[in-house]
Amino acid sequence: MKGEELVMLPGPVGVSHETLLAMATSMFSHRGPKFAKLYSDVREKLRSLLNTNGEVYFITSSGTGGVEFSASNLAGPGEKVVVCTNGFFAERLRDSFLAVGADVTEVQSRWGEPVDLSELEKRAEGAAIVAAVFNETSTGVVNQAKKIADIAHSKGALCLMDNISGVGNEYYMDPWNIDVTVLATQKGLATPPGSSFVVMSPEAREKARKTKKRSYYFNFDLYEKQAADLATPATPAISILYALNHSLDQILSEGVEKFTARHHQNAEAFRLALGALGLNLFANKNYASDTISAIKMPGNARKVVETMSKRFEVVVSTGLGQFREDVIRVGHMGRVDMKDIVTTVGALEMSMKLNSIGSFKLGDGVSAAMSKYLEQ
Ligand SMILES: Cc1ncc(COP(=O)(O)O)c(C=O)c1O
Repeated sequence: MKGEELVMLPGPVGVSHETLLAMATSMFSHRGPKFAKLYSDVREKLRSLLNTNGEVYFITSSGTGGVEFSASNLAGPGEKVVVCTNGFFAERLRDSFLAVGADVTEVQSRWGEPVDLSELEKRAEGAAIVAAVFNETSTGVVNQAKKIADIAHSKGALCLMDNISGVGNEYYMDPWNIDVTVLATQKGLATPPGSSFVVMSPEAREKARKTKKRSYYFNFDLYEKQAADLATPATPAISILYALNHSLDQILSEGVEKFTARHHQNAEAFRLALGALGLNLFANKNYASDTISAIKMPGNARKVVETMSKRFEVVVSTGLGQFREDVIRVGHMGRVDMKDIVTTVGALEMSMKLNSIGSFKLGDGVSAAMSKYLEQ
C-alpha cells in the first residue's frame, strides 16, 4: 500500500494539495487591507455558493461554535424556539438552544426520516425561531428546508438551518427564505477544520440586534460592527480562510450547478453499488443526502470500518449514538470523484467478504457504480 489514505469520512474531508499550499502564507494584520480583501472575497464566494445576499459572519471555531453563535444571539431567555430533531446533530442543535435558556419545543421525528412537517405545523405557533439540520450527518437524510422555512414564516418565526454537512446538495438560501445558515470549513467546502460561518438575512440581523447578549466571544454586536470594516472582533484563522478562498475558487470555477450535479452522480453511483451488494440506506431513500450515505450494517459496522481502513486505506466512519455498531457512514462530498467512489465500493466489498458478510459476487458493487458513470 502507498500509505496514503483515501478519506471518505462525513467530515473532515480530503483537501487538495493546492488548497493546502494556499495556506502556506506569511502572516499579516487582520485589521488591514490585505485581510479586508480576503474577507470580502470569501464573503462574496460563500454568497454565490449559497444563493444569498445575506451578511456573512466569520466565526473562528468548529461548526458547533457557529451553531452556538446563532443560538446565543437569536433566542432570548424563555423565548420559544422550535427545534426539529431527527438525528444526532439536530439533538445538539436543540442542546445549544437549551444552553442559552430558550424555551425549546422539540418536534421529534424518527432517525432516518425527514422532519415531520405536519407535526411542525401544529407545534410552531408562537415560536421566534424554527431550527433544523438541513443535512443530518448521523443518518444521511436531507430535510425539506424550503417547506420548513415556509411553515416557520407562516407562524411569524425565523428559520435557521444547520447546513454544516449539506454543501454539495442543492441549497437556495434566499429563494427558500432561510434566515440563518450555519457552515463549517471541513465538509463540502473541502478545507481543513477551523472556521465556521453564520449567514443571516436582514430580519435575522434585526432579531440578533435586539436579543440580550449572553456571550462575549460570540456577541453579535461586535461581529456586526467589525463586519462593516471587513474584519472580525478577535483574531481569525487567517490560514484556513486562505485555504477556503482557494477551495471556493475551485468550486465556483466548476460552477455551482455542476458541483451539485457531480455530488448527485457520485451519490447515485454509490447508492446503486449498495443495492447491488444487498445493503440498505439508513435514510428513507426519498430523502437521501448527496453528501453522506449512512448504510445499515447491523452488528458489523466496526469490523467493516476497521478492515476498510487497515487493509485498504479507505477511511469511513461508524454510526453515531445508539447506531454506532449498526451503521457505516460514508462521506462523498467536496472533491470526491468517480475514482474515489469506485475505490470505496471496492474496499467495502472486499471488507465485507473478509468478514463473511453478505451473499454478493465480488465486483457486483463496483460494476453497478461504474455503470452509473457510463450512462449518457
Ligand atoms: C450537521 C452538523 N452539525 C454540527 C456539527 C458539529 O460541527 P463541528 O464538529 O465542526 O463542531 C457537525 C459535525 O459533524 C455536523 O455534521
